Amino acid sequence: KFISAIIAAAGQGKRMQRKINKQYLNLHDKPILAHTLEIFEKCTSIDEIIVVTHENEVTYCKEKVIKYYGYDKVEKVITGGSERQESIFNGLKEVDEKCHIVVIHDGARPFIREKQILESIDEAIKHKAVGIGVPVKDTIKIVDEGKNIMNTPNRKFLWAIQTPQTFDYQLLLQSHKRAIEDGYIGTDDTVLVERMGQKVKMIMGSYDNIKITTPEDIYIGEAILKNRKLDDR
Ligand code: CTP
Ligand code: MG
Repeated sequence: KFISAIIAAAGQGKRMQRKINKQYLNLHDKPILAHTLEIFEKCTSIDEIIVVTHENEVTYCKEKVIKYYGYDKVEKVITGGSERQESIFNGLKEVDEKCHIVVIHDGARPFIREKQILESIDEAIKHKAVGIGVPVKDTIKIVDEGKNIMNTPNRKFLWAIQTPQTFDYQLLLQSHKRAIEDGYIGTDDTVLVERMGQKVKMIMGSYDNIKITTPEDIYIGEAILKNRKLDDR
């Protein structure tokens, strides 16, 4: 089975509040996006990688990350859209025609482990649509715009979804096309499959698979890396 990975790196990193896009900020020795790509480059089941980046960053991404670190599985660097969903859809149109399973991953999630990518692929072969996530630790409140608590969903059923999210290629492509027809914009890919009435499997991720989003995530990320190095000794 031919397996493609789409790495979404076309956001603007507004919550990071830095001039340079967060994907290109350094974590220890290299840019965040390079950490992410290294894991997919090494992952035995991945046949090709499509990187989706902002139109102003295509050259920088190719020269300073992909060529510089030698990520040979990257087949294409393409331009994203204003919404994440659009960026992923652009990626879906560019995968190899043999693509059977597609793995969608955030460029800003550099701590994913190969084992978990492999598990999500295995599950996607069985179930066609798979998300990875963790049960939430905090109690979650629904709060209105006037900052009043509206209600409190039962924590027992709440998970925080992460990436990779892995799919039968045709199923995800059809789900994106349906969302476009309906004018629906989602913040992840599983929701597009959910609204087709299709089942999506959830697998247990790891609490350190964080998405680098706000400034404090940089030092949390440094700590995760340091801890990994100790683990690997
Ligand atoms: N992403 C993308 N295209 C977009 C928006 C987001 O490819 N139009 C990617 C981001 O680059 C990131 C991932 O989707 O790797 C998750 O998005 P998020 O953490 O929200 O990143 P940004 O949108 O860059 O950050 P912010 O929302 O703070 O501006
Ligand atoms: Mg965003």
